[in-house]
Amino acid sequence: MLISFNPLTSHSYLSEQSIQLIIEENKTALTKVQKGSTEHSTSLGWFDLEKSIPLDILKQINKLADYVNGISSVMIVIGIGGSNRGAMSALQVLGRNTQSPTTLYFAGDSLSNQQLLDAIDLIHSQEITLNVIAKDFNTLEPGITFRILREEMKKKYGNDYRTRIIVTGSYGSGQLYEMATKYHYHFLPFPAEIGGRFSVLSSVALFPLKVSGVDIDSMIEGAKDMREELTTTPLISNSAVMYAASRYLLLQQGIKMESLVTFEPDLKEFGRWWVQLFGESEGKTDEVLFPLSFSFSEDLHALGQWIQMGPKNVLETHLITYYDTKDTIIKDSIEKDGFDYLTNKNFKDLNTIVQKAALKAHTEEGVPSFTIETANPLNEKTLGSLYWFFLFSVYASCTIMDVNPFNQEGVELYKKNMYSSLGKQIR
Ligand code: PA5
Repeated sequence: MLISFNPLTSHSYLSEQSIQLIIEENKTALTKVQKGSTEHSTSLGWFDLEKSIPLDILKQINKLADYVNGISSVMIVIGIGGSNRGAMSALQVLGRNTQSPTTLYFAGDSLSNQQLLDAIDLIHSQEITLNVIAKDFNTLEPGITFRILREEMKKKYGNDYRTRIIVTGSYGSGQLYEMATKYHYHFLPFPAEIGGRFSVLSSVALFPLKVSGVDIDSMIEGAKDMREELTTTPLISNSAVMYAASRYLLLQQGIKMESLVTFEPDLKEFGRWWVQLFGESEGKTDEVLFPLSFSFSEDLHALGQWIQMGPKNVLETHLITYYDTKDTIIKDSIEKDGFDYLTNKNFKDLNTIVQKAALKAHTEEGVPSFTIETANPLNEKTLGSLYWFFLFSVYASCTIMDVNPFNQEGVELYKKNMYSSLGKQIR
């Protein structure tokens, strides 16, 4: 099993039987989920890796990445939400083992003038390409950032600026596609049947990752392996389905929040990706878990107290996955520092010990907890598997909750208010 789920059923909130019952009650719908054949079939492009990242697009990505690496020291990635969190999160985990002439800089995900000025400074001091990513090119933050940075690019590169722009957008429709066609920008398709937060295993994230030297083939392989496992393992022993069913049971018992806890600081952005995936997919009803993510040990010293002794309405999901690193044996020290009890221990074992210690303390205090553990160390393949695991889990979870995972009408309301304040004509 690539990823195992343990609902810690010894805990009073859950039993094996109650989890099986939820799965049994939702058997018909979950069987469809497993086949990727529900009424949401037009949003299921991510389900099939051949659709998510077809071979010809992969070739195009490789070619374009070589081109970008040949002409730029920085590629500014303009995008927001599902259009940039996938790449950001994977880069944080995998970037340490990559080599590339091109560094990524993320922009267009805020209205911070400082962030914008930093990007403009980069245009002045570095060789730049822009990758602008949007499914619907309406969102103000990336849209206006693209305009301002594009104008700076024109000043610097003259008419050649257009050869340095790579658009990842919806093929055949919308303003971004029209601009790309009219002004001859490079173009990569944002798959039609994939929404932003489900797009990490498509050109949306894989192109910038390839530019920064990530082995995207291994990521895709990891996702494919995970898909194979989750679509063939019977529902009752299927780790993602059990996870979805167990969360639902806790929700019914009054649990209000779920915190995904990670133990490698490089997974902080992954935690944010997960928060968006679950928050935007599930947050459409009163009865839903509020997703949070914490990085331990650090957050043990910020929120550990609250979790331990505050209201028992938070589910803690420990994501147990570590880099495969060399040993660091702790040596004796002449200075008496009070840490001699650690002498000769392996530093890398301490992280596991703190994970187990926190889990024990929290569960003993009555905090409902799950563990999700990868069989292999944290690397390209494992990360690919983790992405697919959570995409499938949220799909199963929303199905049990009877919520459409693929829309986000609530987000549109703030946009409407903003457009009206700024005088945009809505057609
Ligand atoms: O998951 C989603 O669909 C959203 O979070 C979008 O990614 C986000 O709103 C940005 O959309 P776009 O890139 O089309 O402007």
